[in-house]
Amino acid sequence: MTPRTFKIKSFGCQMNVYDGERMAELLSAEGMMPAAETDDADLVVLNTCHIREKAAEKAYSDVGRMMREDGTRPLVALAGCVAQAEAAEAKRRSPMIDIVVGPQAYHRLPGMVARAARGARPVDTDMPAISKFDAFPQRRRANPSSFLTVQEGCDKFCTYCVVPYTRGAEISRPWADIVTEAHALVDAGAREIVLLGQNVNAWADGNRGLADLIRTLATIDGLERIRYTTSHPVNMSDELIAAHGEVAKLMPYLHLPVQSGSNRILKAMNRSHTVETYLATIEKMRDARSDIALSGDFIVGFPGETDEDFEATLKIVDTVRYASAYSFKYSARPGTPAATMEEQIPREIMDERLQRLQERINDHRLAFNRSTVGVDTQVLIEREGRHEGQMIGRSPWLQSVHVDTNARAGDIVDVTLVAAGPNSMTGTVRRAVAA
Ligand code: 5AD
Ligand code: SF4
Repeated sequence: MTPRTFKIKSFGCQMNVYDGERMAELLSAEGMMPAAETDDADLVVLNTCHIREKAAEKAYSDVGRMMREDGTRPLVALAGCVAQAEAAEAKRRSPMIDIVVGPQAYHRLPGMVARAARGARPVDTDMPAISKFDAFPQRRRANPSSFLTVQEGCDKFCTYCVVPYTRGAEISRPWADIVTEAHALVDAGAREIVLLGQNVNAWADGNRGLADLIRTLATIDGLERIRYTTSHPVNMSDELIAAHGEVAKLMPYLHLPVQSGSNRILKAMNRSHTVETYLATIEKMRDARSDIALSGDFIVGFPGETDEDFEATLKIVDTVRYASAYSFKYSARPGTPAATMEEQIPREIMDERLQRLQERINDHRLAFNRSTVGVDTQVLIEREGRHEGQMIGRSPWLQSVHVDTNARAGDIVDVTLVAAGPNSMTGTVRRAVAA
């Protein structure tokens, strides 16, 4: 039976969230309706993540939960990076997977759904030359803060990482397509656009780079804020750094993963930057925009990581004083060079290092949040808070801010930050929004 309703469940990174929105638009254009719950859907798309083993395993446990009490189940499409990496294995592991669709083949999803409805089990993990973006319908819906993928894939081949295999080679979307999509998002209500890419700062169209794109997007009326993520340290150009000091709509926040504070480990990771070059970039960024909030990613327990290497990681956290950071235990991924390196680190050591690192990161996050108490700033309201009259939004530094206000999602309100917690701020409105 042809499915009439669908549910897309996205896991992992922001790019999956974006892809999920685009798949939803594509299926809607085919006449299907979004379902509120998985249980009400004729088709469920599991948009999966393969970055660490735990995330990948989640995909299979979710597939296992598709069977309903009455013995029926929806059509199940496995999408995302697990689909790309494990297509054949996934079909073998679970007979409930009807469709396997890799991230570069989403434009073919409607055709695959039609074939699956007739009893086939189609698989498409091609990385076709024709861009999926060309097949997606125009954007008609937007969030106050909306994602826009400008770059996909990775040519860096860090030795621990599956992304170059699951998302393919680095490609940049054309300038004109991005500008058109940005206008459509703003027309649909976006006040902030977050430019996405696995190596977003490697984005290029001819001789134009991300800084040029940001400067052009900043001229769009109604668009108030621009962010971009994730950046690679080696692609942090002087032009992009300078833009932070000159483009008021470019928010003072930079996610710049370093992964380790030890040059020996960075080399084994094939990161192509050192602690020194990374810190020099951070310094330049602070010169351009002194209040920039810095964020990063860390891996503990990479093969061969000694206590000394780990201490160096704690040291770089103290040097940079991150406003926030993500840290992960190394997870050996099949097919990556690091998976077969000698000296894999025992789990207990990884657990202990992760805990120490997270405590250190939390200390700095709280210190950063406290340093902003008393600051007059603006908050982009995104959603309702837990109690009546409370709304939650983001400060320029990406802090989550709780505000009592009659403002609605999409409003930007003048706020004084009055209290700091480890994970959020409290703000009071300086000027009420006209009702
Ligand atoms: N194990 C643990 N963490 C990983 N990351 C990427 N690959 C792995 C892995 N094999 C982390 C990196 C990256 C973030 C998105 O996920 O820190 O920046
Ligand atoms: Fe993975 Fe490294 Fe590419 Fe980031 S830069 S996606 S960590 S290979």
